[in-house]
Amino acid sequence: MEHTDTIGKILFTQEQIWRRAEELGQEISEDYAGEQVVLIGTLKGAVPFMADLMKNISLDVEIDFVAASSYGSGTESSGEVILKHDITLDLTDKHVILVEDIIDTGNTIKALKAYLQKRGPKSVSICTLLDKPARRKVDVKGDYIGFVVEDLFIVGYGLDFNQKYRNLPYISYLEG
Ligand code: IMP
Ligand code: MG
Repeated sequence: MEHTDTIGKILFTQEQIWRRAEELGQEISEDYAGEQVVLIGTLKGAVPFMADLMKNISLDVEIDFVAASSYGSGTESSGEVILKHDITLDLTDKHVILVEDIIDTGNTIKALKAYLQKRGPKSVSICTLLDKPARRKVDVKGDYIGFVVEDLFIVGYGLDFNQKYRNLPYISYLEG
């Protein structure tokens, strides 16, 4: 396949991602047994991982999506997060699991968690496909983490560079 940018080595294959989603799905199913759970995916990056994760949860879950973007210079997000698409479900007395593609500075997930906590849920936890702790700016942690990555610009499996490469069926990074 030809790409405009140079894509690096494959860090995680589709099979490895699916197997991790199986493990996380099982953990979530045990942790929330007998509870009402809403999975809230962040558009657009979390879509492929959300699809894998939800199929591995053996509870009656509801799903919804939010889209957030943050002001910031270039490649780094800021604390100011704007909601572009809101959830449609009522979260009152339900357990919310926010499903993210990657936690980088942590700004986006921290703001989203605070926002969802105002909607009356029993709890809000975070499940992220990737964690890049080297770049963390705010104190926020994933409760369920797929894989920890180094300080690389990750693409594939939902993650984009200028809206491209979300469709790659593996996780890689941009060389350069
Ligand atoms: P944060 O607010 O800095 O934690 O960044 C969160 C958002 O920035 C993620 O949901 C991604 O959309 C984007 N992002 C952060 N790091 C990367 C990366 O390495 N590749 C692609 N997108 C990224
Ligand atoms: Mg993005």
